[in-house]
Amino acid sequence: MSFERCLFRVKRRNYFMPHKTDLNQQSNLQNIPYRVLASGAKIPAIGLGTFGSDSVSAEVVAQMVRGAIAAGYRHIDCAAVYSNEKQIGQVLAKLLRSGLVKREELWITSKVWNDKHDQVVDACKQSLKDLQLDYLDLYLVHWPFPNYHPPKCDVSSRSPNARPYIHEDYMKTWRQMEQLVEAGLVRHIGTSNMTIPKLTLLLRDAAIKPACNEMELHPHFQQPELFRFCVDHHIQPIGYCPLGSPGRPARDRTPEDTQPLTDPVIVGIAKQMDISPAAVCIKWAIQRGQIPIPFSVHHYQDNLRAAIGAPLTDDNMRAIAAIDKNCRLIKGQVFLWKDNQSWEDLWDSDGRITPP
Ligand SMILES: NC(=O)c1ccc[n+]([C@@H]2O[C@H](COP(=O)([O-])OP(=O)(O)OC[C@H]3O[C@@H](n4cnc5c(N)ncnc54)[C@H](OP(=O)(O)O)[C@@H]3O)[C@@H](O)[C@H]2O)c1
Repeated sequence: MSFERCLFRVKRRNYFMPHKTDLNQQSNLQNIPYRVLASGAKIPAIGLGTFGSDSVSAEVVAQMVRGAIAAGYRHIDCAAVYSNEKQIGQVLAKLLRSGLVKREELWITSKVWNDKHDQVVDACKQSLKDLQLDYLDLYLVHWPFPNYHPPKCDVSSRSPNARPYIHEDYMKTWRQMEQLVEAGLVRHIGTSNMTIPKLTLLLRDAAIKPACNEMELHPHFQQPELFRFCVDHHIQPIGYCPLGSPGRPARDRTPEDTQPLTDPVIVGIAKQMDISPAAVCIKWAIQRGQIPIPFSVHHYQDNLRAAIGAPLTDDNMRAIAAIDKNCRLIKGQVFLWKDNQSWEDLWDSDGRITPP
């Protein structure tokens, strides 16, 4: 059965995300669930990741974007450092010209990379040029550390000019982010890979508050405190690696890492519902209130179907809440600024910003 026919059947059976979240009622294929930001803007509640994990070429990622938009995705998570914005831009331009989708129906995110914290406006203009767009819906500071390391480098790589988080410097970057909004180049600005102590300072000093925070979120890494902090401060959490990033590069793997897709609780619910473990992770994410952005060349239709099909039960949600393993997969070692440091220093786990 085609994807469209399948969705039609799902719609007729009236399975669309009913419940207590602020997700909308589905009325057609284009009308996927969304969340409402503090600004009142609607952001699709599932996005498509575009980081090819160093193994999927820019051309393949761009074709994935083309197929995913044709299938109904309206939210694409891009970044300059993924080195594929040009190819994605060519696809977006074609789709927009064809009339298949209108610009205002799409939610396009990009991110400023760590070597451009003092040239944010230029970096954003470059992403706009590459993506062939007049504006971005969301622009994020990719990491709060201005430490450049080349793509594909090993986790032991360190920038010779590496620096810790210095709030005054971050605010200089943030002021440039605010200028982008004032200039109309960007509709919303946000953060990524932040912690509660860092966000607390940013909220104190920002003229324009972050609309979203992109953070690692999956059943084995639920970050309950940071998640709650974001929601309480009207910052929408966007969850990266929502499936536990099974295709991530070797450099991002350690022997302690666990895999949500093979967790017996996830597999058990998947069997009960006759869906995939990935679909369970996506449903959990959306129902919890974060926006998952799974990357997928081969399963993007299944993932979209998961976002709009029958929901998990309250019991399922409770069972998944109980399997958090506090297992961070993307540890960020390359951002460390001193010898013999532990990656935990990047994440302020004792509740204060790690001093220089
Ligand atoms: N802000 C940040 O610092 C940051 C960091 C990391 C990631 N991100 C963003 O988050 C996105 C997602 O993270 P990610 O790509 O690392 O991890 P992910 O989405 O958790 O996992 C992607 C992997 O899962 C596989 N997959 C997808 N759907 C599946 C399904 N239904 N069944 C089985 N396997 C499935 C994909 O394989 P196939 O391609 O074969 O389907 C791919 O190998 C990135 O692409 C990027 O946009 C942001």
